[in-house]
Amino acid sequence: MLSRFSPHVSDTAPGRGALRPARSWLHSDAPSRSLNGSWRFRLSPTASVAEDFAAEDFDDQDWDDLPVPSHWVLEGDGAHGRPIYTNIQFPFPIDPPHVPDENPTGDHRRHFDMPADWSDAERVVLRFDGVESLFRVWVNGVEMGSAGGSRLAHEFDVTSAVRPGDNVVAVRVHQWSAASYVEDQDQWWLPGIFRDVTLTARPAGGLEDVWLRTGFTDGHGRVDAEITAEPTAYPVTLRIPELGIERTWSAPAEVTPFDIADVDPWSAERPRLYDVTVSTAAETVTLRAGFRTVEIRGDQFLVNGRRVVFHGVNRHETHPLRGRVFDEAHAREDLARMKRFNVNAIRTSHYPPHPRLLDLADELGFWVVLECDLETHGFGEVDWVGNPSDDPTWREAYLDRIERTVERDKNHPSIVIWSLGNEAGTGSNLAAMSAWVHARDAERPVHYEGDYTGEYTDVYSRMYASVPETEQIGTDGSRSPLLHCTPAQGARQRTKPFLLCEYAHAMGNGPGAFDQYEALVHQYPRLHGGFVWEWRDHGILTTTADGTPFYAYGGDFGEVVHDGNFVMDGMLLSDDVPTPSLHEFKAVVQPLRFTFHGDKVAIGNLRHTADTSDLRFRWRVEHDGAPVASGYLDVPAVVAGDSARVSLPRIPVAQDAETWLTVEAVLAAGTAWAEEGHVIATAQLDRSLHRPVPRVRARTGWRPADGTLTLGTAEFVDGTLVRLGGRAVTGPRLELFRAPTDNDEGAWGEVGESDAGIAGVSNAELWRRDGLDRLTTRRVSVERTAGALRTVDKVSAANSGSWVMVESIWSLEGDEVELRVEIEPSRGWHTVWPRIGICFDLPDGDAPVDGAEWFGLGPLESYPDSLRAARTGRFSATVRDLAVDYARPQETGHRSALRRLTLTCADTEVLRVEALPDTRGRRPGFTLSRHTPQEIARAEHPFELPNSTTSHLIVDAAQHGLGSRACGPDVWPEFALRPESRTIRLRIT
Ligand code: GAL
Repeated sequence: MLSRFSPHVSDTAPGRGALRPARSWLHSDAPSRSLNGSWRFRLSPTASVAEDFAAEDFDDQDWDDLPVPSHWVLEGDGAHGRPIYTNIQFPFPIDPPHVPDENPTGDHRRHFDMPADWSDAERVVLRFDGVESLFRVWVNGVEMGSAGGSRLAHEFDVTSAVRPGDNVVAVRVHQWSAASYVEDQDQWWLPGIFRDVTLTARPAGGLEDVWLRTGFTDGHGRVDAEITAEPTAYPVTLRIPELGIERTWSAPAEVTPFDIADVDPWSAERPRLYDVTVSTAAETVTLRAGFRTVEIRGDQFLVNGRRVVFHGVNRHETHPLRGRVFDEAHAREDLARMKRFNVNAIRTSHYPPHPRLLDLADELGFWVVLECDLETHGFGEVDWVGNPSDDPTWREAYLDRIERTVERDKNHPSIVIWSLGNEAGTGSNLAAMSAWVHARDAERPVHYEGDYTGEYTDVYSRMYASVPETEQIGTDGSRSPLLHCTPAQGARQRTKPFLLCEYAHAMGNGPGAFDQYEALVHQYPRLHGGFVWEWRDHGILTTTADGTPFYAYGGDFGEVVHDGNFVMDGMLLSDDVPTPSLHEFKAVVQPLRFTFHGDKVAIGNLRHTADTSDLRFRWRVEHDGAPVASGYLDVPAVVAGDSARVSLPRIPVAQDAETWLTVEAVLAAGTAWAEEGHVIATAQLDRSLHRPVPRVRARTGWRPADGTLTLGTAEFVDGTLVRLGGRAVTGPRLELFRAPTDNDEGAWGEVGESDAGIAGVSNAELWRRDGLDRLTTRRVSVERTAGALRTVDKVSAANSGSWVMVESIWSLEGDEVELRVEIEPSRGWHTVWPRIGICFDLPDGDAPVDGAEWFGLGPLESYPDSLRAARTGRFSATVRDLAVDYARPQETGHRSALRRLTLTCADTEVLRVEALPDTRGRRPGFTLSRHTPQEIARAEHPFELPNSTTSHLIVDAAQHGLGSRACGPDVWPEFALRPESRTIRLRIT
């Protein structure tokens, strides 16, 4: 067989033979057939297998079946290789543009039937919406071409090769190619035909492409249509039935922009769409137009004349079973979930998503930063030597990528910014991409974070900038230069709108400090918010050898190089469960601000344009968490940017309980993404009367003690607690360790960024060095006096000269037992501490502790720099549900500001604990878990946690914050825990 093309895997050209220019992904009535379904498949270990498989009569009987779309590594239980996860590293030698001979190559074949009446078509087009990474295609044995650009669409004119009736299409896919060097995104490498394959009959006189540019000014909509069709295809008619619009153009020259009075604008908050059809005699294309104007005015980014604040997320396409194969129902639910959590923007990190996703974004309402499929981050490891971004050999590939990106998705009102790619260094090819976009779409600004000095982009963007750096960008007065910028470049950057294309790295437990970033947005109009890294974990559902299911991350498939669990950094776990960070995000960015003044509350509307007529405001009063009154506030519709002051209800204040008022803004009616009553924003007001805390009673007459002793429900042997409330309990034992979070393990940061850690060394490493995870105890004394027992312990770690003295005083106070623990560190502790707590072990016996009810902050876990989603109330949860199933086990479950806690066994009370505030009014938090911090720290996956026969209650005087040092700033000094004296006082019944 003669090959018309001989593309090589090392070719930097974007492929050969695909149709150009690229065009929109349109909904058309032209006949088409999906070639998705079962294909025949053979995997070879190298790229140099014979091409005879492409012949029509090739016998593929011995091949496997493979569904298309799919990634072959996720099909066939490991029979077709395994996924590989790397962040920056290339999983092959850095030898551009070459890749190793060991290059998994998947050959695919299928028959398809072409209807007889398609012979009338002007052209038959074969479209691939996504193939990773380089593919070649043959129809009936004739090579049609090749294409690279995995997350981009490629079309081939197959007219000359097809015939009515039976046809054979053969596709060869190489896992590695020159394209892999420019697709080095932080994600799984997942080869295959992973998006749709479609055959279309292009009618003579059809619409090659349609672009409806729309605008909105002063209540007027504007349509500026670009029709790509042969002159003979005219007349062309555009209809917008809902607006009574019908325009017929009989020649290309007649197609001119026109205005429409009285249209509703499109915004992410009110995503008003109008159905539009564009027709010739031969073809009708259906679009959904949204009217909106994007504009940069000075350093402000505006849509429809108003400043946009991005409360965004970075969204990768990832699914635990399907990888990057699109599942519309799942994607729609994911987007609806974003809306429910007050997410208003998406950056399509780091490539165009499945085209349908943008239909959903238009419909549900998101500001979208649409990013091109481009990243060369691995070159950063070699000082950017050989980086394709500045190498003319790659220019064509770069331009091909951006053209395919913009052309495919240009019709979507949700897309307000084009992004050239991610972490590809800088260079003339990126500048050329930007120039191309400016020429093609003057209306949408260009973003690329790596253009630090702002040479060719329209918005200023940074990732993981600290709070002080972000603030510095917002201010004009600062003389301090911006990162990577000369003073002049910095001044230029300050003339542009700023956004954080990535911030608040949500890996594992964390991040902290959402609220600090959010506060800046309201202070400095140049700052336009940002996009959390990232929306969801990329875990791949698999099983251990014994069949236990788990979500795999890097290294779980035996990769040679990998980046571990760095791919598990979403606010959503792999199984769609929102982590507490997502709740925190929702609370921090809520679009309403409540400010209480006496018997009034001011309700500020922080939205872009929508007023509050879609909301109801309900209130309730609780006494120690028990509801006593509720109702609705009378709130007029507050326009965006304004606020209204309304009267609060009369609040019944309790004498012997805390009184809290909670106000919630809820949806007055169901929407496409939430039900009526869904909570958008919440605030609480503490109206409690001051109640004195019982004083510590001075006791004298202490004398050494041993033997057994009973104080109320507490029983001791030689000063050691053995039973409490009739069941075996040991403790209190000083606990300074927490199973390090991914942020605790992070060593990110520059000297001076925070005084909490030491640059380059993680806090977790310092904690292990200091032995916080392996403390030992020496009992110094046991003494008793009337109605009280006192022990003093010296707690320290092997080979350490520092210690903590722990004095525990048990006493009878009326019919309650009080435990007061004084924790006093010696000198010489230099690092931050994860926690200052005391632990009780509760062996299961006949009545395992399996749940908790409490009055304090809840319902979810909270930490000092992540407290905004927590509210004061009464909550209950099983031990299981108190913990979050982070992909790598780590600290979880801490509930702050505890007042009362009841431990339960099958809903029966086992033990009741009241937490008294210390002399500074600080209250402890608690964690109830089936595992100790040490056990959790040893496990790399949930299935590695040992079976447990004990529940562990830790009462913490304090916990260290979370920060986001896995990839970002350390814990802000105010929320960092330093070794210090603390008191814990509990009343136990
Ligand atoms: C950024 C990058 C993302 C991701 C993140 C860390 O540098 O753009 O793709 O790798 O860091 O999770």
